[in-house]
Amino acid sequence: MAHVVAGVGCSHVPAIGVAMDTHITDQPYWQPVFKGFEKSREWIKQVDPDVIFLVYNDHCTAFDSSMIPTFALGVAAEFAPADEGWGPRPVPVAKNHQKLASHIAQSLVLDEFDMTIMNEMEVDHGLTVPLSLMYGEVDEWPAKVIPLAVNVVQYPPPTGNRCFNLGKAVGRAIESFDEDLKVVVFGTGGMSHQLQYKRAGLINPEWDKRFLDLLTQDPVAASKIPHVEYLREAGSEGVEMVMWHVMRGALDEKVREVHRHYHVPASNTAVGHIILENVAD
Ligand code: DHB
Ligand code: FE
Repeated sequence: MAHVVAGVGCSHVPAIGVAMDTHITDQPYWQPVFKGFEKSREWIKQVDPDVIFLVYNDHCTAFDSSMIPTFALGVAAEFAPADEGWGPRPVPVAKNHQKLASHIAQSLVLDEFDMTIMNEMEVDHGLTVPLSLMYGEVDEWPAKVIPLAVNVVQYPPPTGNRCFNLGKAVGRAIESFDEDLKVVVFGTGGMSHQLQYKRAGLINPEWDKRFLDLLTQDPVAASKIPHVEYLREAGSEGVEMVMWHVMRGALDEKVREVHRHYHVPASNTAVGHIILENVAD
């Protein structure tokens, strides 16, 4: 059977991708950001997942205001990096595990989560930067990738609780797939950041740390954090963190925190990263 072995939480700041693509990661500004991913790269090499179920948000790249699905599941054969204004990032195309993706699509809809099904989709920094952080520069992504795009750019995004429950349904879907596959679920975005208006530049390390603690130890309480608290404490874009609850929901209640990294700032954002393993594995 397919099995969820671990979850990864990870920021997706686009400038991190630029730093990698232009080979300036050892500059003093960037060095501490990437240092915190050295252990993660070792870890993922060891775990060697077959599939990554990657929860991310699209930033008006695949979708615009003409159509904004709350939850869009990628079942296409592959997902090319999008041109976000400076040409597509020079990173590999993400290849899907289409059989598992289709199984998850069916399982979620029959489990009463009404997904938008994407038979074509380009992917932006929300998906490519976490893969780059975890795998470094590679010719091919070592795992298949199933993307789940969550709307967090146009009010109202889904609640943390809805995301947590969707994560549980994703976990059930994966665990009921009849092929031996190791799956790691990524929850991406955040941590605290605000990109516009009077509070632009807002970063709240105390609140971010509490979020990471809660995510590991009390995921139900974490999932109950209301939108207004993300906006007030973590800035307008901090609400990206609702996506981490999908990852957490797909894991067991008790998990082992095997790695954590937190660094301020990268661009306008607090970089947060956590690796959680299912204890029973
Ligand atoms: C930044 C962070 C984001 O999450 C994003 O989507 C775009 C920009 C930033 O800090 O620059
Ligand atoms: Fe973002």
